[in-house]
Amino acid sequence: MKSTELEFRGKELGRGSFARVEQASLLGTTVAVKKMKIVRAARVKRLALKEVEVHSRLHHPNIVQLMGVCFEAGEIWIVSEFVAGGNLEQLIYGSKNDVRLSVPEKLTIAVQCVQGMAYLHGTSPPVVHMDIKPQNILVTKNNIPKICDFGLSKSKRQIKATVTWHPGQCMGTPYYMAPELLLGTNTASCADPACDIWSLAATLVELFAETDLWFPDHDEGCDGDSDDFDAICAIKEKMEKRIVPPSIAAVDSRVQKALADCLVYVPEFCPLALGMLEKMSEISIK
Ligand SMILES: Nc1ncnc2c1ncn2[C@@H]1O[C@H](COP(=O)(O)OP(=O)(O)OP(=O)(O)O)[C@@H](O)[C@H]1O
Ligand SMILES: [Mg+2]
Repeated sequence: MKSTELEFRGKELGRGSFARVEQASLLGTTVAVKKMKIVRAARVKRLALKEVEVHSRLHHPNIVQLMGVCFEAGEIWIVSEFVAGGNLEQLIYGSKNDVRLSVPEKLTIAVQCVQGMAYLHGTSPPVVHMDIKPQNILVTKNNIPKICDFGLSKSKRQIKATVTWHPGQCMGTPYYMAPELLLGTNTASCADPACDIWSLAATLVELFAETDLWFPDHDEGCDGDSDDFDAICAIKEKMEKRIVPPSIAAVDSRVQKALADCLVYVPEFCPLALGMLEKMSEISIK
């Protein structure tokens, strides 16, 4: 793709540690362009190219579609379809005047998120996302969820070839991270699909309960900042005691068990995405 085919309108859609995402027009169609500086840091270039390599193999209605890549002025630009409804975090908490989502609406969104995950884990070689959280799930104007941000994702091939795992090493976002990752007890592989299942269940608990997994009352000084050291220590402490995440109790009773089954401390007992999908699809809410 040529960068001259893109026309920017000065609208920023998001900003992260390595990237900023802007709205643009590609030959007349609105798209999102994730821009990452690669001039100085070889590591950023490697990460960006890996993100593109993994993302380019994925084609699913619940996964944001990659449209192309270009290099411009020391940056890599990753061009994707524009998803107009913001991200799931914005949808969950909305603004004061927004109409709240009903439980059946939330269930429809949840099932589609699990569908996206079942596709990721079922594709060959499987893809483990590694950073599932509400900010990395976009939603269309009709509330169709689309998983995005493959910056930390790994395909099984890459895991075998390149990933060295250091116990306790944090790769995703602590609030949504599986205990075996946050506590560093999984020494076999850092990118187990079970870690994604925990993060997705944590995300869906947040969708149904409208509060995060660990701090339903926002006690313990948690201000929602994922780097908040005290909050991470508090989560680790709860995990060491194998505490059932408190916000599960605030989830609609019909969905509660299916999500609680995914938030288990023994990864071997965690269902596969397809099993989770079957359970979630069986729940009918009138
Ligand atoms: N295709 C898109 N359409 C609309 N908005 C998008 C799109 N892609 C990203 N955004 C917005 O930008 C935010 C950040 O995007 P993304 O998660 O890809 O980057 P990041 O978190 O900054 O990246 P990294 O974690 O690699 O630093 C999203 O939460 C969303 O609000
Ligand atoms: Mg992100």
